[in-house]
Amino acid sequence: MIVAANLKTNLTRQETLEYVETLSNTNIAQGTKVLVFPATSSLNSFNTSLTIGAQNAYPTKNGAFTGEIGLVHLQEFNIKSILLGHSERRHILGETQEKIVEKFNFFKEQGFEIVYCVGERLQEREAGLEATLAYIQKQYEGIDTSYEKLTVAYEPVWAIGTGLVPTLVDIETIHSELKKLSSAPLLYGGSVKLNNVKDIYNVPNVDGVLVGSAALEVKDFSAMVEIANSISK
Ligand code: PGA
Repeated sequence: MIVAANLKTNLTRQETLEYVETLSNTNIAQGTKVLVFPATSSLNSFNTSLTIGAQNAYPTKNGAFTGEIGLVHLQEFNIKSILLGHSERRHILGETQEKIVEKFNFFKEQGFEIVYCVGERLQEREAGLEATLAYIQKQYEGIDTSYEKLTVAYEPVWAIGTGLVPTLVDIETIHSELKKLSSAPLLYGGSVKLNNVKDIYNVPNVDGVLVGSAALEVKDFSAMVEIANSISK
């Protein structure tokens, strides 16, 4: 199982240091992989065997892109993983599919592990499975779905930070469709909590979870890692 924490715009540098230190004491079984995506200014030289990734970066080594960070800023901390296509970047920060593809290609070229997020909005969900899949399919446009360091995260926009979760059957249905588009590991994300994570791990074609709000408490996230350790599939 892959267990990933998206810390978003939370936890200061000091808090993140403590978070990673505490989490690093969690037992991680052989089949479990843990990733943490801290806020950009909280990236650091962590003394950990956990995978630390960036939530975002500009597709450049360095240059004149005010407010952005580039490859050199990730290399400084030996970061080789990045989250791309998150719905908050698509829908709040206005990132287009073209820009995301540009980032994808740049970081693929650099050999980064890429966690690529896709997911439909409430309007597609309400319009039914066909509309949902058609919308998600567009988010695969331009993406090298056979990239060996790709992990996909299915995150319905309406489930992110809302406490709403699709039914397990719905997750299974979408995941089995998305596995046809890419055989990359496929995470589920959107209101994953300590009390639903085990059921979600056990859904066919779920290879792990991407957790936002419920990952902010390190003891909860650590407990999710421990539950993942006990899942064998
Ligand atoms: P959530 O966020 O767990 O708070 O719903 C998930 C995500 O955005 O990755």
